[in-house]
Amino acid sequence: MTASARRTLNVALGERSYPIHIGRALLSEPGLLAPYLAGRQVMVITNDTIAPLYLQALIDALPDECDVRTLSLPDGERYKNLEQVERIWDALLGAGFNRRCTLVALGGGVIGDMVGFAAAAYQRGVAFIQVPTTLLSQVDSSVGGKTGVNHPLGKNMIGAFHQPRAVLIDTDTLATLPPRELSAGLAEVIKYGLIRNVAFLGWLEQNMDALRRTDAEAVSEAIAVSCQIKADIVAEDETEQGVRALLNLGHTFGHAIEAHQGYGNWLHGEAVGAGMAMAATLSFELGMIDEPALTRARAAIERAGLPLAAPANMDVEDFLSRMRLDKKNVEARLRLILLNALGEAVISDETPPDTLEELLRRYPRSE
Ligand code: NAD
Ligand code: GLY
Repeated sequence: MTASARRTLNVALGERSYPIHIGRALLSEPGLLAPYLAGRQVMVITNDTIAPLYLQALIDALPDECDVRTLSLPDGERYKNLEQVERIWDALLGAGFNRRCTLVALGGGVIGDMVGFAAAAYQRGVAFIQVPTTLLSQVDSSVGGKTGVNHPLGKNMIGAFHQPRAVLIDTDTLATLPPRELSAGLAEVIKYGLIRNVAFLGWLEQNMDALRRTDAEAVSEAIAVSCQIKADIVAEDETEQGVRALLNLGHTFGHAIEAHQGYGNWLHGEAVGAGMAMAATLSFELGMIDEPALTRARAAIERAGLPLAAPANMDVEDFLSRMRLDKKNVEARLRLILLNALGEAVISDETPPDTLEELLRRYPRSE
């Protein structure tokens, strides 16, 4: 396979605009991070799985004159909490890092969300750079500045908007990613096709096998299209006053699944996969999409290696109690993202409670 060309996209947010560099072997490129550092003090934060794989390459890519510190956190969604963020603040204060320091998040969405939040609050806000190493973080979580941690009562409930200075995506890091994690990332890729771009959904249908074997050209294309769609939406609505909510297709159901199962037992992307299948089914039940569209949406999710069924241990109230806590809700009304067509999602506050409850009651459960 020939090396894919480097691509650079832009997240257009005025003076807080930043590039997304996508390419192979980016981590071995000297000078890659230098333009985005606020000063000499740099702390690279990663986890115990990623550190042995990529930490040294990242350190080598930093300018010699930097004062580089590293911190490795335990791996897992269950560690996406304030205790771990405090460890980052402790390390920064312990090293005497000031407002001109830069944090570098080397890892998946868990590390990226926590490091971004630590950067948002440290001395009221310092620079950070995203170096995402999972497909999910490369197509979604590293872009757009949503940062934060989970609360036992709800997913991502504590956080801040804080944009990175740059997103550096070395697609070669996907070579070590377990297949289950790759499938989880494909959930968010499929999401972009379902909400905004039916032609991209068609391309995904053609290229799903290539993506699942991490074919370099296919992966690079999927990441670039996904990041472009996300960058456009974030530029239009940075703090989710409107259109950005569409990026949450399947997430209201998905976050309920993740929280109920215990963080990390269902991967975020798996919960989003099943959640998108549930949202598409509800859209069908409400007469918004036809049966062929529903079948197509479900087939894409299934071919990515993702679950369609909801967990066997969740009843209607288990879903509803979690869904009522969703950040999108306005007062007592449940806000859901539904499909008007493939490639066209809408924000809906109008779902009749009876229809939703009926869907939750009848929706297939896993064995
Ligand atoms: P993750 O960060 O837990 O990473 C998944 C697993 O892969 C971990 O075990 C990790 O150590 C391992 N890993 C990472 N890179 C690897 C590599 N290159 N090789 C081998 N192993 C590797 O999970 P994720 O799926 O990347 O991210 C999920 C998180 O992202 C959730 O907490 C979710 O809420 C969040 N998220 C945030 C946003 C946002 O806009 N901020 C968007 C979507 C998801
Ligand atoms: N992942 C949803 C968002 O960034 O808005």
